[in-house]
Amino acid sequence: MNAPRAAGVDTRAAIRATGLRKRYAGLLAVDGLDIEISSGEFFGLLGPNGSGKTTTLHMLATLIRPSAGSATVAGFDVVREPVSVRAAIGLVFQESALDRTLSVAENLRFAGLLHDLPLRVIGERQRELLELFGLADKRDQPVATLSGGMRRALDIVRGVLHEPRILFLDEPTIGLDLPNRRRIWRFIERLRARTGMTVLLTTHYLEEADGCDRVAFIRRGRLVESGAPRTWVERLGRHMLEVEGPDLDGLAAALEAKLGAGLREGDVAYFRCRDEDVAAIARLQAEMGSRASAWRIRRPNLNDVFLWVADGKDLG
Ligand SMILES: Nc1ncnc2c1ncn2[C@@H]1O[C@H](COP(=O)(O)OP(=O)(O)O)[C@@H](O)[C@H]1O
Ligand SMILES: [Mg+2]
Repeated sequence: MNAPRAAGVDTRAAIRATGLRKRYAGLLAVDGLDIEISSGEFFGLLGPNGSGKTTTLHMLATLIRPSAGSATVAGFDVVREPVSVRAAIGLVFQESALDRTLSVAENLRFAGLLHDLPLRVIGERQRELLELFGLADKRDQPVATLSGGMRRALDIVRGVLHEPRILFLDEPTIGLDLPNRRRIWRFIERLRARTGMTVLLTTHYLEEADGCDRVAFIRRGRLVESGAPRTWVERLGRHMLEVEGPDLDGLAAALEAKLGAGLREGDVAYFRCRDEDVAAIARLQAEMGSRASAWRIRRPNLNDVFLWVADGKDLG
């Protein structure tokens, strides 16, 4: 049973898309996407490069127009009410939204004014946020003089300055070191706890996806169902057998006969296994183990789910 929600919390969908489609010349970048994200939810969209994640976020953020289908964000239609959508959302996209020739403070003031924030509020939030990210002494420097990590942090500060109801994060921490990634996630968590903000995230970092309430995988513009990260991993199975070696063909065929289709990634082959397979695997290892340079059985993780889905395989 779901926990009862506090009075006054908006339980409507924050984001709802139906048959959302984007066509570029001959290419269906997004091919009939249905998605519903609840208010306050932290939702992760995962998928290989080119699978349509950014295109989806761009349509929801009203930056590009869908070719077909419909979507509402914060209850507003992305095609008919783009101004209302934009007022409700914050964006941190792969391309920086910062003006490199302006100073840190000027960039934030500009972003705040775009959202009709009073100058006093902009000043307060700017001070607090720059302090938090260790950027206070850079406030009058042009953005061009900041390090890559500082610019990324500033992009995030810019995206949340107006405390949006819904935040779109497209690979927000790519290229950042671990301390900076942690700092950014702590900050976003605090903001979510305080404001109930909905977050739609794309990421390649599994520890980020693990923290999501739900993740969905997208493949060639189509959504492969969504669920809590742990449920996905459980569906994959109890164990993952990983064998490694330069000449795996014979061994992989023997394993496949026992365990069903596996997955090959260069010198490594992966197989899902159940508890009752473990004895058979031990026998195979005794017979054929010398053909592999490494042989291990471990728990599956979200990375395995990602590989399975990206390869077009059914999770069963
Ligand atoms: N402006 C565009 N014109 C033509 N094709 C595009 C354009 N933007 C994206 N695409 C194509 O759409 C597909 C999905 O891209 P994208 O949404 O950026 O994927 P992802 O963010 O998952 O890596 C890719 O094949 C990409 O080349
Ligand atoms: Mg992208």
